[in-house]
Amino acid sequence: MNLNALEFPRTLVRPELLHQECWLNGQWQGGDPDKRLPVINPATGAILAHVPNMGYSVTSQAIANAQSALAAWRARTGKQRSVILKRWAQLMHENADDLSNILTAEQGKPLNEASSEIAYAASFLDWFAEEAKRIDGDILQSPVSGQRLLVLRQPIGVCAAITPWNFPAAMITRKVGPALAAGCVIIVKPAEHTPLTALALAHLAYEAGVPGDVFQVVTGEPEEIGNALCESDIVRKLSFTGSTDVGRMLMAKCAPTVKKLSLELGGNAPFIVFDDADLDEAMDALMLAKFRNSGQTCICANRVFVQSGIYSALADKLIERTRALKIGDGSAEGIQQGPLIDGRAIRKIQALLEDAVSHGARIALGGHVHENGGTFFEPTIIQDLSKDMRISSEEIFGPVAALYRFDTEADVLELANASKCGLAAYLFTRDHARIWRMSEALEYGMVGVNTAAISNEVGPFGGIKHSGLGREGSKYGIDEYLETKYICMKV
Ligand code: SIN
Repeated sequence: MNLNALEFPRTLVRPELLHQECWLNGQWQGGDPDKRLPVINPATGAILAHVPNMGYSVTSQAIANAQSALAAWRARTGKQRSVILKRWAQLMHENADDLSNILTAEQGKPLNEASSEIAYAASFLDWFAEEAKRIDGDILQSPVSGQRLLVLRQPIGVCAAITPWNFPAAMITRKVGPALAAGCVIIVKPAEHTPLTALALAHLAYEAGVPGDVFQVVTGEPEEIGNALCESDIVRKLSFTGSTDVGRMLMAKCAPTVKKLSLELGGNAPFIVFDDADLDEAMDALMLAKFRNSGQTCICANRVFVQSGIYSALADKLIERTRALKIGDGSAEGIQQGPLIDGRAIRKIQALLEDAVSHGARIALGGHVHENGGTFFEPTIIQDLSKDMRISSEEIFGPVAALYRFDTEADVLELANASKCGLAAYLFTRDHARIWRMSEALEYGMVGVNTAAISNEVGPFGGIKHSGLGREGSKYGIDEYLETKYICMKV
């Protein structure tokens, strides 16, 4: 294995969970030793491991393996698939400390957030293990006599998933769980930054009884792997979580093969606080919605709209609480903010802040690379913003709280909806009539009312407009991996 054990911040109970090979057809495959990609700890810059830089031909082979595996997997009963998924979830819980350590080492989020992510990730396996038993068809009333109309729901077949670095575990199980439950087989291409969590999950999946050709993991060159997956006629479904630009490109690449797509893309979440809100409740939620994963989630509060009467009180509290955040290597005790994923993320934030300041915005706290250096950025609060600044329309994806003042409900609704994205929105008020009005009028796929803790396995996660297609998790999530077949039977 030859992993750089010294560079791993914490010792693992089961070091065998660390892999530097791809999981293909039930075997660990290392690929060309001269073409390997480093996995870097964003907190220290240390190289943790190297993984294979696979490309088009290995991905095509993985697709062929998956095709061969499909018939046997789909022939298992929902109950049999369910038992395996439950066992996989159980193994994730049993190995949660090791998985969290791996995740923090390669992704940077604090250990407590990593362990929450592992529980969140396992919840999708548990949930879809149950759904596997409930893939039911239908019998419809025929408009003409002498016919019976039946509806079958069948697995779509060979699927592929391209997953992001911000949730290296949960974005895999949120796709692989429903795929396997439905009777599909799946190939995952994890983000280049965070392949080790994906490979550890593959290890546990196999231990749980998922055949090695039913769920495969291929690491490497994103464009080549993506092209192989998109161009293949065997792959009938692609699920992607990432930026809108890449989602749009994948959509175009999948057009010739008319693939079914699930796209969970960028957000620009409005976080709206009315004068009548419970300020402490709104503050707790804002700290979560803004600083979870150092601001690197698609549903992070991107624009914080605060009504004039409560604006100063909220801004003061936000400055106080943000200043108190403990920043450092996520593997150390008590850390609340880890590093950003890489230098590119830092440069993006700096560019957004420079643009806003040059157009009249004011930085109330932070605004610079943190004294730790590297990819640590100071939690930042910026005020006096207007809608024509880049920060108002682009996803920040970092620890920057952008505050806007508003006067009326109509004004804030217009501002909130003035976005091409429509993933998550948040709303804080005690007025029930307003809760209904606003929840219905906000052009977003998800609305948190007096809460920011909206992510769980039960709610349908997904967006509208440029934020994507389809829903993940929930009782709706499995539909993305099923086809509906209609049978008209003369009797
Ligand atoms: C994401 O940022 O893509 C996912 C966030 C979540 O599931 O809460």
